Amino acid sequence: MDSILVTGNGPLNGQIEIAGAKNACLTLMPATLLTEEPLTLTNAPRLSDIRTMTTLLQSLGAEVSSLQEGKVIAMSSHDIHNHTAEYDIVRKMRASILVLGPMLARDGHAIVSLPGGCAIGARPVDLHLKALEALGAEMELKDGYVHAKAPKGHLQGGVVDFPIVSVGATENVLMAATLAKGTTVINNAAREPEIVDLADCLRRMGAQISGDGTSTITVEGVDRLNGATHPVVTDRIELGTYMLAPAVCGGEVELLGGRLDLVGAFVEKLDQAGVAVEETAGGLLVKRRNDRVNAVDVTTEPFPGFPTDLQAQIMALLCTADGTSVLEEKIFENRFMHAPELIRMGAQIDVSGGTATVTGVDRLKGAPVMATDLRASVSLILAGLAAEGETTVSRVYHLDRGYEQVVRKLSGVGAKIERIQGE
Ligand code: UD1
Repeated sequence: MDSILVTGNGPLNGQIEIAGAKNACLTLMPATLLTEEPLTLTNAPRLSDIRTMTTLLQSLGAEVSSLQEGKVIAMSSHDIHNHTAEYDIVRKMRASILVLGPMLARDGHAIVSLPGGCAIGARPVDLHLKALEALGAEMELKDGYVHAKAPKGHLQGGVVDFPIVSVGATENVLMAATLAKGTTVINNAAREPEIVDLADCLRRMGAQISGDGTSTITVEGVDRLNGATHPVVTDRIELGTYMLAPAVCGGEVELLGGRLDLVGAFVEKLDQAGVAVEETAGGLLVKRRNDRVNAVDVTTEPFPGFPTDLQAQIMALLCTADGTSVLEEKIFENRFMHAPELIRMGAQIDVSGGTATVTGVDRLKGAPVMATDLRASVSLILAGLAAEGETTVSRVYHLDRGYEQVVRKLSGVGAKIERIQGE
């Protein structure tokens, strides 16, 4: 298995280009199932999760080709001959559940294995199923598979009241509602930029959607959707991650394609920590105001709050802050698996339930560490950049799921980082 070797670094300077959002692309791809006409995505990221979604869609009968070295994904679902998403593919990635709504809306039936994905706590799909039930779907769980049916062959518009905000469940029911008969109202909908991007793409395909980006989304069902070409929104999590590189190492890095509206709550925390973020013609410029950052408290929340997907990375920064920071994880249980690894590097962290208390130390020390999930893996790389000596991060297949060309991007701004090929 490959690993990544990082050597503690001086200041970083230069530019990093931010890719299209993994999480947006993973929900835009299943939207192909809603139409027999071609759907093309541009600005796609090149990641193993995208290849997994490609394999899943192909297993259902969709044609999916990767063009321009993976930056363009051309899809056509004129012949969907299989309505079962098999365990062997679905277990690799939780976002696989997103084929359920579209298949059900299109053909009135679907069978999808219960998903796997990152090991960050119990992550059920009950909200997806309940939301689709509100549109008239009948669900049965058998042998680890969800068997879903629309009794009259089509879904019926309805009112969906989410008890908690779920990004994936909002996306699933939003796609399904575009082809349901009548009006659907989604209350307590997720407001993430990836939801707005999906709604934009669906509108290009002829869907009638309003209110995306707010907590109430309304969808007027249409009889059919057409093909479209859609650019994937910038990856705000990749953006936030690389904004932390000059924050941990010093220097000045411009994030090309970066937008403040995608990372508002995160930038607020960086500002409190003493990291300046400026808008430029091409994106965002980031530099640390002083040699050492200040401690800050962080609570993760649904958008527009601080994203759970940047919690591990900001923890890496706060390990060497001046003072004590309290990080509260409110979205996922068990999402502090990076803490014991950071402690191996000399960090002082106490985890109690959903709270991590981080007392800043002067300097971290390089150590062999293990990536435990996607975001944890990149936080260990950031910590390695800040540490004295060498850090080897193993199990980097987690990283390949969500970060394209991390070694090229970071070494392009002067980081000492290389990938070591395993057996
Ligand atoms: C998406 C993102 C993920 C991010 C998360 C929260 C993708 C592919 N993944 O995941 O990177 O960390 O949003 O911003 O876009 N829940 C239930 N029942 C359900 C669904 C969710 O209880 O049916 C719970 C989850 O366990 C979690 C919370 O709801 O505690 C929010 O999860 P959700 O927003 O659904 O996350 P995902 O869509 O899986």
